[in-house]
Amino acid sequence: MLGRLNHVAIVVPDLKAATAVYRDTLGASVTAPQALPEHGVTVVFIDTGNTKVELLEPLGEASPVAAFLEKNPSGGMHHVCYEVDDILAARDRLKAAGARVLGDGSPKTGAHGKPVLFLHPKDFCGTLVELEQA
Ligand code: CO
Repeated sequence: MLGRLNHVAIVVPDLKAATAVYRDTLGASVTAPQALPEHGVTVVFIDTGNTKVELLEPLGEASPVAAFLEKNPSGGMHHVCYEVDDILAARDRLKAAGARVLGDGSPKTGAHGKPVLFLHPKDFCGTLVELEQA
């Protein structure tokens, strides 16, 4: 069921400063910021060849990453995203195995324009897991 690692997401308090760290200090190429109001974040992508890193900054009052930043003021690793061939089949299999799917259980459109779901960190080794339709 589990496919490639699509990305690792890092929440940051200041996207401009974080972009400068990745671009200038680490020598990475970083995309232009993309606002995703329905997800409550602004995001940039760093392509590392085998996978991607996403830097997320809260957007709006009800950002789902705001509480994370309160606990981790310098930022930190927020989730990992794995690709699956069939997101609905993956969801049903995980639910049958007792895993908790966040939200109402129906996929939303993610940052790459594909359906995504999030899984409860307590069911996956303390790490928030995103599944993305490959
Ligand atoms: Co993600």
